[in-house]
Amino acid sequence: MKLPDEVIRSPLFAGVDPTAREIAAQAFRTLSVPSGKTVFEAGDDGHALYVIKKGKVKVSHSNLDGKEKVLAYLGPGEVFGEMSMVDERPRSATATAIKPTMLYALYLEEYWGLINRYPRIAHNLARIIARRLREMNHEVEVLTFKEARGKVAYALLKLHRHNYGEPTRRGRLLAVTQRQLADMAGTSRETVTRVVNEFEMRGFLESNQGTIELFDARGLEKVLYDLD
Ligand code: CMP
Repeated sequence: MKLPDEVIRSPLFAGVDPTAREIAAQAFRTLSVPSGKTVFEAGDDGHALYVIKKGKVKVSHSNLDGKEKVLAYLGPGEVFGEMSMVDERPRSATATAIKPTMLYALYLEEYWGLINRYPRIAHNLARIIARRLREMNHEVEVLTFKEARGKVAYALLKLHRHNYGEPTRRGRLLAVTQRQLADMAGTSRETVTRVVNEFEMRGFLESNQGTIELFDARGLEKVLYDLD
């Protein structure tokens, strides 16, 4: 099997030479997941990590009342399910396909073979986890200290940074509802509506049913860092 470009460009393979990538390709299995189906649930045993070839995956957590907190929306090239492989503990969150999704799965046995043979891949996994920790530190700061405008700006910028959505002539089209944005920003849907309307009036974005077209990420950064 030859790895597709989306998977080769994944941070998992950064700095890995082409021969090693070809050998690694033999260790992966493809898996298609229909929209709405979970790949795994929080608390499950972890048997594999995944690289997204195509589609979108939501990583989320629900509390005992069933209220959902979205940790991330991940797209092509992004990796998930690596934490349970590294610390051999149950899944820390639920992963759900929110579009028809094609995954490359690396199962436990092949995972050990690969990281023993290519320490660069193990190092890349550590980098992926370090990046998430940095992001979470930043997120804790935003959710603790920022008011609603900063929180919504942060949630939109997070989607933008992860290349969520599709590029358009004017920016990026994000398929995200105001409910989903509220879950990401840790605020109410009504507050999101108010803030999104304000951002629309300032020319940062255009909001439609279930989508937001983002034109001005720098404008949102200024809001987030109180530079406006
Ligand atoms: P694992 O714990 O095996 O299963 C759930 C996965 O969700 C986890 O590995 C990570 O790959 C991913 N994940 C957990 N927390 C976050 C986060 N804050 N941002 C992005 N992905 C996450």
